[in-house]
Amino acid sequence: MNLTSEERAMLSGEFGSGVKRAMEIVVALGNVYRAKELIPVKSVQVSGVSYKNIGDAGLEFLKEWAEKGARVRVPTTLNPAGMDLKSWKEMGIPEDFASKQMEVLEAFRAMGVALTCSCTPYLIGNVPGIGEHVAWSESSAVSFANSILGARTNREGGPSALAAAITGRTMRYGLHLDENRKARYVVEVRCAVKSEADFGALGYIVGNLLENEVPYLRLATEGLGEGKKLIALGAAMAASGAVALYHIEGVTPEAKWCDVIAKDAKTIAIESLEDGYKALNSPIESIEFVCIGCPHSSLTEIEEVALWLEGRRVKAKLWVTTSRRTKEEAEELGLVEKIKASGGEVWADTCPIVAPIEEMGFRSMATNSAKMALYASSYCGLEVRFGTLEMCLDAAVKGRWY
Ligand code: F3S
Repeated sequence: MNLTSEERAMLSGEFGSGVKRAMEIVVALGNVYRAKELIPVKSVQVSGVSYKNIGDAGLEFLKEWAEKGARVRVPTTLNPAGMDLKSWKEMGIPEDFASKQMEVLEAFRAMGVALTCSCTPYLIGNVPGIGEHVAWSESSAVSFANSILGARTNREGGPSALAAAITGRTMRYGLHLDENRKARYVVEVRCAVKSEADFGALGYIVGNLLENEVPYLRLATEGLGEGKKLIALGAAMAASGAVALYHIEGVTPEAKWCDVIAKDAKTIAIESLEDGYKALNSPIESIEFVCIGCPHSSLTEIEEVALWLEGRRVKAKLWVTTSRRTKEEAEELGLVEKIKASGGEVWADTCPIVAPIEEMGFRSMATNSAKMALYASSYCGLEVRFGTLEMCLDAAVKGRWY
């Protein structure tokens, strides 16, 4: 691989042992992926933050890296942690988990990482421009950055993203290259796709079929408009498959401005969303736990929840998960108070997948997110109902589905 003199100096240890280790990771991965060179990145988003996921081994790895003097060179944000950093006691998080989680965050802080703890960095100021190279790791955010913003990132792992942050470089391969951003599948969507849940179900089907390919979607229906539908679509495709970039005819930037369909592209058709809804729903009636906010809720979604709940009271546990900044904005507008008045809770910095919810004894969940439905059943062992926001809030009030 061709390295600049500065990159070679990082590799030889001239910038300290923390930077040396980071450059060793970047170069080793570059060799695996046959990258010819490295490219500077404008921002990094790091996953592998929850103590539930990384455990003591991950914590020690981060602490050691921080102690070696590693510091990030570019703006770097974090994925959700295992708890609301301010209200973890009210969440019912055990004290020993909380103290380990804070150690993880301290290691990140020591390396200069902003403790944003959100899977929607693009809603809180980290918005890369068209063609800009970044190294992000949260799969739904990677999908958003590539597809909706037209930025360029591969789906990084936690350590490779952190190594990119410390060196300011990533490997030039995969979705950083024009040729790999072309769609090899055209997906004709012939059924109506209206609600955010419909987009989640569609994303589930496409991801399941195409795994890590780049699809070009043609939608029969109009009215896509809202960003949250695209967020739901991309998050689902990245969860059921590993789709890190998609194009939508007439909607996404590269589909509007460039020729993004490969010459030998195959065409597949989706006639119905039924298979998606079927796969994401267990036949349960009783609902103990309702989760809204995967990926993290925007202020608009929190407002919708608060308005819907006005004058109602929830029977099931209701969590709305969001970023710290959005929660604070929602507090200022009195939305958090309104949701609390109905018995719901708004947590920042976390979500049910990365929080230790197994210890809270829930068996069933309802959610409006296809990604959450998939992960809650496969990673947390919950029986799940998946539907629109209104259906989920109704389930929270009645304690049952329908
Ligand atoms: Fe975010 Fe958790 Fe969903 S990290 S994308 S809310 S599974």
